[in-house]
Amino acid sequence: MDNRSLADLSWDAFDEHRQPRPAENDFDRVVERAISRRGFLGGALAFGSGAAVFGTGLIGATARAQAQTAGFKFDPIGIATDADVHVPAGYRWKTLVRWGDPLFSQAKDAYSPETGVPVAMSDKVFGENTDGMETFEHDGHILLAINSEYVNPKINLPAVSDGMPQNADEVTLLKNMQGVTVLEIAPGETAYDVVLDSPYNRRITHDTPMTMDGPAAGSALVKTNADPDGMSPRGTMNNCGSGKTLWGTYLTCEENFNGYFGATGAFEETEGFIRYGIGGEGRYAYEKFDARFDLSKEPNEPNRHGWVTEIDPTDPQSTPVKHTALGRFKHENAEMVQAADGRVVVYMGDDERGEFIYRFVSNGIYAPGGATAGLLSEGTLYVARFNDDMTGEWLALTPETTGMPIEDILVFARLAGSKVGATTMDRPEWIAAHPGKPEAYCALTNNSKRGDDKMPVNAANPRPTNEYGQIVRWRPMGGDHGADRFEWDLYVMAGNPTVYDNAYGGSDNITEGNMFNSPDGMAFSSDGMLWIQTDGEDSNEGDFAGQGNNQMLVGNPETGEIARFLTAPKGAEVTGLTWTPDGKVAFVGIQHPGGAWPDGTGKPRSAVIAVWREDGAPIG
Ligand code: FEO
Ligand code: CA
Ligand code: CA
Repeated sequence: MDNRSLADLSWDAFDEHRQPRPAENDFDRVVERAISRRGFLGGALAFGSGAAVFGTGLIGATARAQAQTAGFKFDPIGIATDADVHVPAGYRWKTLVRWGDPLFSQAKDAYSPETGVPVAMSDKVFGENTDGMETFEHDGHILLAINSEYVNPKINLPAVSDGMPQNADEVTLLKNMQGVTVLEIAPGETAYDVVLDSPYNRRITHDTPMTMDGPAAGSALVKTNADPDGMSPRGTMNNCGSGKTLWGTYLTCEENFNGYFGATGAFEETEGFIRYGIGGEGRYAYEKFDARFDLSKEPNEPNRHGWVTEIDPTDPQSTPVKHTALGRFKHENAEMVQAADGRVVVYMGDDERGEFIYRFVSNGIYAPGGATAGLLSEGTLYVARFNDDMTGEWLALTPETTGMPIEDILVFARLAGSKVGATTMDRPEWIAAHPGKPEAYCALTNNSKRGDDKMPVNAANPRPTNEYGQIVRWRPMGGDHGADRFEWDLYVMAGNPTVYDNAYGGSDNITEGNMFNSPDGMAFSSDGMLWIQTDGEDSNEGDFAGQGNNQMLVGNPETGEIARFLTAPKGAEVTGLTWTPDGKVAFVGIQHPGGAWPDGTGKPRSAVIAVWREDGAPIG
């Protein structure tokens, strides 16, 4: 497969290319197991009236239709299949910032609908493919930190016939269009606008100098020719979901970092490379023009990526820090909460088929305004086991439990997780913690491989060839996120009740009126409602008939009700969500739109939009 076709693959398809599904699997056996699970789960609903694991098994259309609509502050909208954004009556939206929009006056005319952005201006504009983001208040300023997850090379390099970089400058262009943007916003004629030339405006790219801390920093595993001390990595990449620390800094999460590495010569295909999908061909041909990405020259460079990275958005001179204590995997987001005793807890998902959910617990405690040194560098990493009896436990990853040195545990967290018997999950995406009670939710987006011999169904991931996804939630014992045991249930199983009258029709709280597939982004608003964004199949055909474009829904954790709030333009996923401090404007990411959204002509431009209520009340 050449680089052009690799670059065209979705990240999930890229994983499949690297680690193909085994040809044989005992499908009949696993289907039977899943069906028996339905009976088990139906009789063992865990907690709350919102618990919705299959209900009574086969669910009739009438019961589904009655389950919906009340309890939301907006009128739910229908699906869309067009090329625009839609929000409920009484709400408005506008584009806040698009790929190529200037952060500084000198880049005001940088973007061209024909040619995109020139390399000289590429680190002075907003990046492509917006993802996780968070809002910060600082000295009367409102700042957004926003991830740019990856690039579409054909859009950024339209003059190159196969869309792949042909020289080092073109590689630099692609590197600069990804990473993180910090920008200031201020009230505009409507909602908010970007403040051009704000001293806070900043781009952080694949080349920005960083530091590392935690037990793997400085270890032999992260030393390279350019950094023999293993303390000064460069760049943060494939920045997917986000998090916000209790002390007001930004956490950006490195997801599909493996795809950026390739080899121009021989290299050793280690167990770690195989488990993380690191191989000989990079998606963007970086390795041909930058030895840092060439596995035959710098085999440790991939070990310096796949971390949660902390950025202080209030200090444009600050150096980002990669926190090795939080483990290296395909990080989705990082949801920080506090244990009852004040220790810092970070929940994290590893988005690949059959990978795990993790939790970091600090050694030290945090008090508002208090010291933060060591809170994300000294602690214990755990991995989750979801038992079939709907209990679960956090399994510590230590030299004692794994037989691995601590730096190996952290750099190869997946291998450590397997050693202690973690539960394989259906692609853990965002984790969101309820703001008012000790409860956390994780979007398990889908899993085409669930049910094969390496990945049998389990109670939390009960459907073979799971193309719709589900949301699992857990409550820690004693209401303490620091506790090592929890109870869990499924908040929702997505599905299509117009096509299936079985497990693939979804749980009780899925109806013809609110159905969706592939939950991904998630965040709680301060009123305790769960906002769910999708990154799924938007063909609106076959198993996905009637589900329309990707969308954003709101879930009531108490009643289980779910209602559609926003639909994306065809081709886009909805990802990234944050609110202004007063809750009156929401910022929503529209990634990889199709057509020519939002300009109507020229290229599709990934963008962050602002959404607000016409009456000026808080959104929701
Ligand atoms: Fe970048 Fe798993 O989404
Ligand atoms: Ca995602
Ligand atoms: Ca996804």
